Amino acid sequence: MKVYINGTFYPKDEAKVSVFDHGYLYGDGIYETLRAYSGQVFKPGEHMARLMHSARLVEMSLPMDGDGFLDAIDRTVRENGLSEAYIRVSVSRGPGEIGLDPALCPVPTVVIIAKEFNKYPESMYEDGIKVSVVKTRRNHPECLDPAIKSTNFLNNIFAKMEAKRAGAYEGIMLNHAGHVAEGTISNVFIVENGSLVTPPLIAGILDGVTRNLVIKLAEGMGMTVFEEPFTEARMWAADEAFITNTTMEVMPVTDVDGHVVGGGKAGDAARRLRAAYREEVARCLKTR
Ligand code: PDD
Repeated sequence: MKVYINGTFYPKDEAKVSVFDHGYLYGDGIYETLRAYSGQVFKPGEHMARLMHSARLVEMSLPMDGDGFLDAIDRTVRENGLSEAYIRVSVSRGPGEIGLDPALCPVPTVVIIAKEFNKYPESMYEDGIKVSVVKTRRNHPECLDPAIKSTNFLNNIFAKMEAKRAGAYEGIMLNHAGHVAEGTISNVFIVENGSLVTPPLIAGILDGVTRNLVIKLAEGMGMTVFEEPFTEARMWAADEAFITNTTMEVMPVTDVDGHVVGGGKAGDAARRLRAAYREEVARCLKTR
């Protein structure tokens, strides 16, 4: 494996950043996770727009524009000879003297890791996964805005540890108001009477690239989509539930803390949305 660090490729064992990097010292950094299908990055513009948005929110000036990042990403995918790839782009504040002030770090560190994508087993898409609504609340937007795709991840890690203890695959976090916010690495949807319901951005969540695409695909299929707050009890009683992200795409949820959802099997809406998602992938590959 070759890892991209600030314009140079290093073998995995030699891919190192400074212990004085504020990404390491303070969790001061932002990132994106992308997926390449047949060697082509999916929804590149959307991911770059969000990276730029995160950078603005943490007041970091990036060393490249979106096209520069996409060129570096493409080169990393090709350097590693990948077709189906998981791509992680991290931009940390960079090395500097100890101290919180970002001005101590003149040059951000850009790391791009691309590796073979490990497919989720098909059985997960058929049987659905178990999730647990955890005690750890999602960061309040006025403390650390979840709209920032930040490498400062302890909030999500605490939720993941709780979920794991509960025997669940994903932890669902509530927001400060007690409404469902999002998963540790995913956005949440429920299906009620044929309509899709998902927490609004003002609930304090990441503006998921997959979430946006799924909303568009659902509307294209004639479904009504409500972006409105809901409680965990509405998840228990929903006809279907699923989570979305760049790597899972559309993952059915069939168990919420022991409450069986949708009869314990992937529901029709989740199946159709995943199929539509795959069609969109194929369409994007053709139009390049
Ligand atoms: N996570 N919410 C959170 C907290 C996330 O970390 C993610 C993505 C999402 C879904 O966003 P998208 O659809 O743009 O992937 C929602 C990625 C996969 C990660 O952490 O690697």
